Amino acid sequence: MERIQRAAKIITSGGTVAFPTETVYGIGANAFDNDACAKIFKAKGRPADNPLIVHVASLAQLGDVASDVPDAIMKALKVVWPGPITLILKKADRMPDTVTASLETVAVRMPAHPVALRLIEASGVPIAAPSANASTRPSPSKASHVIQDLDGKVDMILDGGETAFGLESTIIDATSEKCRLLRPGAFTLEELERYFGKIDVPKSINVTLKESDIAIAPGMKYRHYAPKKMLVAAERDAITQAAEGLKGATVMCSDQVADAIGKHADTIRLGDEANLYEIAKNLFDALRNLDKTKSFAGVIQTFPERGIGFAIMNRVLKASGSKPATSAEELLDRLSR
Ligand code: TXA
Ligand code: MG
Repeated sequence: MERIQRAAKIITSGGTVAFPTETVYGIGANAFDNDACAKIFKAKGRPADNPLIVHVASLAQLGDVASDVPDAIMKALKVVWPGPITLILKKADRMPDTVTASLETVAVRMPAHPVALRLIEASGVPIAAPSANASTRPSPSKASHVIQDLDGKVDMILDGGETAFGLESTIIDATSEKCRLLRPGAFTLEELERYFGKIDVPKSINVTLKESDIAIAPGMKYRHYAPKKMLVAAERDAITQAAEGLKGATVMCSDQVADAIGKHADTIRLGDEANLYEIAKNLFDALRNLDKTKSFAGVIQTFPERGIGFAIMNRVLKASGSKPATSAEELLDRLSR
């Protein structure tokens, strides 16, 4: 508890604190302090036109951040918050331009993590916090990832162990009659629609950056999650059939695929194929570990685009930057280029 008091003091005096949430670690500052929020952009190397998510600890606090929240949305938020779902709402007048990148809207969420909630409560202000990674790197699911990227660039890091989901929150735009999905995430679309009604899913949401000409959320136009090494996504059977040709590459895949590959290539296990939540949780750590290997390239398995699998595939496509290989020949050809 004492460390939360210390962290809160840093927040109220204009500093930055990295803290755990149920999705990924965030790097936070007082959302009403323009200069403090500017420090976040500097620490991450984040472009100024990419707005931050504001974290609140209560529905009452939402009133300080957003305005004109429709009744139906309020009703749904009472059920889904705290949780991994971020809403785009009309901003309150006092929100600083640094946080919103001068948009008329603001992104808000109430995180379901005791450390995050206590930090916001102890600070007495909403906390603006993007993921606590250096810009373009995979989001941090462990405190060690935050240290890798931001050591010396943040005033304090609260270590809360590994995060529960390992993937960022789902973002929906609630500023028009029908809600619109901006980023698939830890809260599944199927479940969201139970509370928010039919959600509009832009066709281009799960395509690679190269294929989409318009960014859905401001942040989506930037390269994301990309390891330094070449990374090729490939379907399950393409990988198992190409196994003997994968020597020298590191394959990030389910336990089942890793067992099939055997000694033919190095593998990083993402977990049991039947448990996509386990795959999601291990994904960003695997992408970070790829760069530590001596492999000439990485291969990453694709997963079914349902439930949390939709968000997993969104990150896999962004990290690999091209359409997944659908056959062993295509996979081996792509690796030989
Ligand atoms: O799970 C999460 O959401 C984590 C934890 C720390 O809460 N945060 C996170 O923040 O992933 P960040 O900054 O990495 O992603 C925020 C995304 C960006 O793509 C940004 O462009 C978008 O939200 N965003 C923020 N404000 C927006 C707005 N007013 N309109 C549309 N998109 C917005
Ligand atoms: Mg981020």
